[in-house]
Amino acid sequence: MTLRLFMLLALACCAGQVASEEPVIPTEKETIEFQTRLGVVTFRHQMHAGLSATECTTCHHTFKAEEGPVQACHTCHEHKKPSADAAPKAKTAFHTRCIGCHEYTTEQGDPAGPLKKKCKLCHVK
Ligand code: HEC
Ligand code: HEC
Ligand code: HEC
Ligand code: HEC
Repeated sequence: MTLRLFMLLALACCAGQVASEEPVIPTEKETIEFQTRLGVVTFRHQMHAGLSATECTTCHHTFKAEEGPVQACHTCHEHKKPSADAAPKAKTAFHTRCIGCHEYTTEQGDPAGPLKKKCKLCHVK
């Protein structure tokens, strides 16, 4: 009885720790659609998070578990860059991160997503 209780407590403790150190992607965010003037960009978020050598912070570069939940990129990267803000505007931030990794991965000889000139493979009307 006592041993069982101890094991339960131990499990509860460690499950809680894992949850706070390794955040998970909410179900409704497994796929994210960006509405843009050039069409809809469909981003398979869960698939990307499962790529080898990819962590949440590969994209969520400001995330620190002790500082609260993962923030949307648009919180800081706005569509129009306010002159006093240090964060580049959304289009620059997304193109740099998304296309940058696709280029890098292609250079490594591995399958990747759309490259810079393939606008319409991301922006689908
Ligand atoms: C890897 C996918 C990808 C490729 C390739 C890509 N884009 Fe984008 N683009 C995005 C994402 C993601 C956004 C950010 C949308 C947002 O901020 O909501 C974006 C934003 C934009 C915006 C701002 C849209 C708006 O309505 O504010 C423009 C304009 C744009 N892209 C043009 C292009 C052009 C032109 C090309 C090709 C030369 C291109 N993109 C290639 C993913 C891509
Ligand atoms: C390949 C890039 C990439 C990786 C890796 C990634 N994400 Fe994201 N995540 C995004 C993008 C892009 C958005 C959309 C942000 C926006 O709309 O401004 C997003 C949005 C989110 C949101 C919603 C934030 C909000 O308030 O709207 C959460 C939560 C989240 N990610 C958690 C995670 C977790 C947890 C991991 C690791 C298991 C992870 N992400 C890995 C790119 C990524
Ligand atoms: C809490 C605010 C904040 C959030 C959230 C945030 N960023 Fe940033 N980001 C910044 C700031 C500030 C800079 C400029 C200084 C720096 O490079 O750290 C930046 C720089 C960048 C750069 C470098 C741009 C360049 O021209 O080299 C990329 C790429 C980028 N962010 C992508 C993202 C993506 C993608 C997300 C979401 C997955 C995201 N950021 C979330 C604040 C943020
Ligand atoms: C860490 C590297 C990395 C980042 C960052 C990244 N991608 Fe990808 N992406 C990949 C790889 C690798 C594949 C190929 C996966 C496969 O097919 O095996 C891919 C595939 C894709 C595809 C085609 C497959 C599909 O149907 O989903 C699209 C579209 C795409 N990415 C969009 C994006 C967008 C939009 C972003 C930024 C919000 C982004 N990617 C950021 C590595 C990345």
